[in-house]
Amino acid sequence: MTNVPVDVVVSEVGPRDGLQNIKRAMPTDQKIRWVAALAEAGLREIEVGSFVSPKLLPQMADAEEVVRAASRIPGVVVLALAPNLKGAERAVAAGVDTITMPVSASREHSMANLRMTPEEAVEQVRKVRRLCDELPSKKIRLEVGISTAFGCSLQGLVSESWVMELAVLVAKAGAESVGLSDTAGYANPTQVKRMFTQLKRELGDKAGAAHFHNTYGQGLANVVAALDAGVKTFDASQGGLGGCPYAPGATGNIVTEDLVFLLESMGLRTGIDLERLLEARKIIIEALPGEQLYGHVSNTELPKGFVYASATDRSVPV
Ligand code: COA
Ligand code: ZN
Repeated sequence: MTNVPVDVVVSEVGPRDGLQNIKRAMPTDQKIRWVAALAEAGLREIEVGSFVSPKLLPQMADAEEVVRAASRIPGVVVLALAPNLKGAERAVAAGVDTITMPVSASREHSMANLRMTPEEAVEQVRKVRRLCDELPSKKIRLEVGISTAFGCSLQGLVSESWVMELAVLVAKAGAESVGLSDTAGYANPTQVKRMFTQLKRELGDKAGAAHFHNTYGQGLANVVAALDAGVKTFDASQGGLGGCPYAPGATGNIVTEDLVFLLESMGLRTGIDLERLLEARKIIIEALPGEQLYGHVSNTELPKGFVYASATDRSVPV
C-alpha cells in the first residue's frame, strides 16, 4: 500500500520510544525484523532508535545497525533521536533520513533527561543544524519535539507561553519542524487544540507532529483535537509501548493499531494495512515474551462492513 496517497502521516516510534522504556533489550535482529514488518504494513516514517548515551540506555546501543538495515528498505523515511551533536554525528554516519531532537520545556525534566537546560538543548539544535548544512551529500531533515509541552511529572505545570517561546527559539535555531510532545500524558483535548492552533500561528509550515502518551487514557481524544487544529503527523507506538525513563509515572504512547483504525474510520487515509500491522505486532510478542502490550483493535475483529478510507468517501453519510 506504499503508493497510496495519505491524508495523515502515522509516524511509528515503537522501536525508539517503545523500547527505551523496557529494561531488557530487544535483540537487534528482531528489531530489524519488526521495522521491516512495520514497513510492510505501510508505515512510511519509522523512528528506529536513538543515539543517546549507551551507558544510560543500553537498549539503544545497536542504533547504528538498526538504522543501516532500515535504510535499505525502499520507501521508508528512517528517523532516529539524537539529544546532542555527538548523537547527531552518529546518526548521520549511520545514514538516517531525519534526526529528531528532544527539547524539554520543563527545566526539571530537561536536567533529568538530557543533563542540559532547555537553552542548552536549543544550542545543541543549532549545532546539529550546522552539521546538517555542512554535509556534502545527503540532505538530512531536522525535527524537534518539545517534550513535556503539556505538563511534567517532575515539575508539574508548564507554562504554555514558555512552550511557544521555546518552539520559536528552536525553529530559529534551525529545526525544519517543531512538534509538541505530551511526555507525561497530562494533555486534554481543549489544551491540545489551543496549543497546536497557537503553534501553527507562531510557526506556520514548521508546526510539526503531535506526540501523545496515553497515561490517563486521553490519547485518542487528543488526536481528534489535534486534527481539528490541522495537525497532519502523529507519533504512535505499536502495542502502546513507550515512555521516557526520566518522566516518572508516564506510560506508553498511543497505540498505532488503534490510531490507524481511528483515522481510517474517520475517512482519513493512512496508507496502512491493519491486518499486516497486527502481523507485525506478533514480532514484539515473540521477541519480548510476557511484555504487556496495549490496544483495542488487536483484541477483536474489524467491524463488519469496515472499509479503508481510500476505498470510500466517508465525508458523506452512507
Ligand atoms: N552517544 C554516545 N555517547 C555520548 C553521547 C551520545 N549521543 N553524548 C555523550 N556521550 C558520551 C561522551 O562521549 C562522554 O563519554 P566519555 O565518558 O567516554 O568521555 C559521556 O557520554 C559523557 O558526555 P557528556 O556530554 O558529559 O554527556 P552527559 O553525561 O551530560 O549526558 C546525554 C548527556 C544527552 C548524552 C545523556 O543525558 C543522554 O543520553 N540522555 C538521553 C536520555 C534518553 O534517551 N531519554 C529518552 C529519550 S528523550
Ligand atoms: Zn514519548
